Parts: sequence; C-alpha cells; structure tokens
Amino acid sequence: MFITLEGPEGSGKTSHIPYLVEFLREQGHIVFPTREPGGTSIGEQVREILNDLKNTEMIPRTETLLFQAARAQFVEEVIKPRLTDGEIVISDRYADSTIAYQGYGHQQDLVQIHALIEYATGGLLPDLTVYLDVEVEVGLKRKKKDDEWNRLDAYTVEFHRRVRSGYLKMAESERWVVVDASRGWDEVQENLKEKIIERLKGDE
Ligand code: TYD
Repeated sequence: MFITLEGPEGSGKTSHIPYLVEFLREQGHIVFPTREPGGTSIGEQVREILNDLKNTEMIPRTETLLFQAARAQFVEEVIKPRLTDGEIVISDRYADSTIAYQGYGHQQDLVQIHALIEYATGGLLPDLTVYLDVEVEVGLKRKKKDDEWNRLDAYTVEFHRRVRSGYLKMAESERWVVVDASRGWDEVQENLKEKIIERLKGDE
C-alpha cells in the first residue's frame, strides 16, 4: 500500500510521520517511510538545488522538471520494489505536490503537468493521500519559527494561497482524506491514525 501525506507549508506533516510509522509497525505492518524530493542519493542532490535560497533565477519550468527528475529515480529505486514486496510505503509529499505548487502555485498548464508526472512515475498513484489542511498565514508563521526556511517557502503569500486552494480542489476526489491540521498536535495525530486504519481495513 502506498500512502502519501500532503499539505501546505507548516501543516506539520513531517513531524507526524515517525509516530504513524511506529503505530503501523505495532500493528504488524512492514513500513517504509520516505520523503520527496529526496529519498535517493540523486534525489537529495536535486533537493539541494531546489531548496537553495541562492537559486533565485530558477524559472517554474526548471523547477517542475527537477522535481520530476528526482521523482522518476525515487519511484524506480525506492517505491516500486517495496510495494512489490507488500510493504506500506509512506511518503512525505509525492506527485500531488507538483500539481499544487508548480501547477496551481506557479499557474503552469495542468494538462502538461499531468503528462510530465505520468512520464516520471510511469502512472504510479498512491492508494491513499492524506491532506493536512492549515490556513496559509498560520502555516507560514509556524514554518518561519523553525529555521528550515527554503527557496520555495519564500514565494509570496498569494502563491501559497493558490497552492492551498489547489489542494482543496484535489482533495475532493476519493483517493484523498482531509485532516484539519490547525488543531492541537495530539488531536491531529489521532485523526491521522483513524483515517489510515479505516482505509487499511477497507483494503483487506
Ligand atoms: P521541505 O523542506 O521538505 O518542506 P515541507 O516540510 O513543507 O515538505 O521542502 C519541500 C518543498 O518543495 C516544499 O516547499 C514543497 C515543494 N515541492 C514542490 O514545489 N513540488 C513538488 O513536487 C514537491 C515534492 C515539493
């Protein structure tokens, strides 16, 4: 089973993943946590280029293609072999981040974006995508508090608003569940566990 977590900046998804992994392992699953862009040596190198605050001249098309380059490697090297072995792969972001950020955020042609994703992933879709929703101002404030401020975080508030509304549109489809991430951490964690278990049960 392939599970992805998505969300705008400061939704807190990264901090929840280790606890979800532990919880699923306690239930007897073999779980492989990973993150995008990264998860492979090549992906981590691409991530550095993407996040580097010095790369101010990067245009949206370059950004889109770099994310797909990292993703193609990630799918072949990390995700597919584990899914074949029957593991649960849980990824901090995946292709829907490209639709939200490069598609809705940068207002790139969505048909072309979908085609690039299809090329990079060979059509591999998550079985479940959990969207942690938080208002843009709240999320960016949270994010600024930690020192991991990167090139993409520095885009305008308007950009991040388009990202969030893109996510909310995508989250209407059946593959997605939405968790309100503006609540306290414990409550969000409980809600995440419930939603994942519900989907796992439905899968059996
Ligand atoms: P990261 O520091 O991992 O942020 P976060 O904790 O919010 O996931 O940086 C990843 C950044 O890359 C984040 O701003 C979202 C962005 N991103 C895209 O724009 N497109 C993509 O396809 C992916 C995977 C990430």
